[in-house]
Amino acid sequence: MKRIIITGANGQIGVELTPYLRNLYGAENVLATARRKVPGPVSEGGPFVLLDVRDGKAFSESVESFKADTIIHLAGMLSARAEGDPLGSWDVNVEGSHTALEVARERGTAFFFPSSIAAFGPTTPAKNTPQDTIQRPTTIYGVAKVTLELLCDYYHKKFGLDTRGLRFPGLISYEALPGGGTTDYAVHIYYDAVKKGSYTSFIASGTYMDMMYMPDALAAVVDLMEADPEKLIHRNAFNISAMSFEPEQIAASIRKVLPDFTMDYDVDPLRQGIAESWPDSLDCTAAREEWGFSPKYGLDEMTQDMLARLKDRM
Ligand code: SER
Repeated sequence: MKRIIITGANGQIGVELTPYLRNLYGAENVLATARRKVPGPVSEGGPFVLLDVRDGKAFSESVESFKADTIIHLAGMLSARAEGDPLGSWDVNVEGSHTALEVARERGTAFFFPSSIAAFGPTTPAKNTPQDTIQRPTTIYGVAKVTLELLCDYYHKKFGLDTRGLRFPGLISYEALPGGGTTDYAVHIYYDAVKKGSYTSFIASGTYMDMMYMPDALAAVVDLMEADPEKLIHRNAFNISAMSFEPEQIAASIRKVLPDFTMDYDVDPLRQGIAESWPDSLDCTAAREEWGFSPKYGLDEMTQDMLARLKDRM
């Protein structure tokens, strides 16, 4: 990667990945794009243009004038919000992503796509979920992720495009809140722990999901995109995860730092149903073997860092 264009730069991943890449590759070499201009590092720390990913012409022109060699395509709508607007989510998550892939083909750039644990469904083996396994997701968000996983493989095979991608677990971060996702509880819990000393979880006790701290996710994107293509057998949709926990375990981790923290439950049937359709824990062997995936943060290290950073801010 030398000249990078990022879509959805204002999202939970984009607000951190944009400065991270600018730091590594030079601010002038990372063009952030989003549908809205928000004051802050994304729009002010380097080149920025307004872009709707569904506008292929404007997208292609941006890639050409910036002389980008890589598209990091992050624009998308998360799982629970997508259930409330299935057709709108298809428009962004599938049509928008296909447009981005076509721009990559037209301009010959590398292409990164963030898939998700949502690409699996209730018939997938839930524990130690293999890299290659049954994928029959029951959410519109998951159906879109599988579609793009397959399209990315197809564009590589058919057109020789350098497509690469990760199946992200729930991502936990302190810079920006996720919006409308199912794993969001594991972010909100830290904010409320610092603000109120208590949290009401919309995910039920005993519900395991894969998670990862944002610094490990950022490193994983760069490690994969810079990996020797000869070593990539899968290329797209690598399972990655740093930890798997259920609400009581994250609460217990918080109590090691804030002993008076309390949690109760008000389970949201929509998000609970989505969570139950996703795996409990992914097998990340392919990512480790093919490009050296090695996350640094476990649950307690993440908790300590999250609480310290949020305390500083609030
Ligand atoms: N974190 C996402 C969500 O909950 C899953 O990829 O929607």
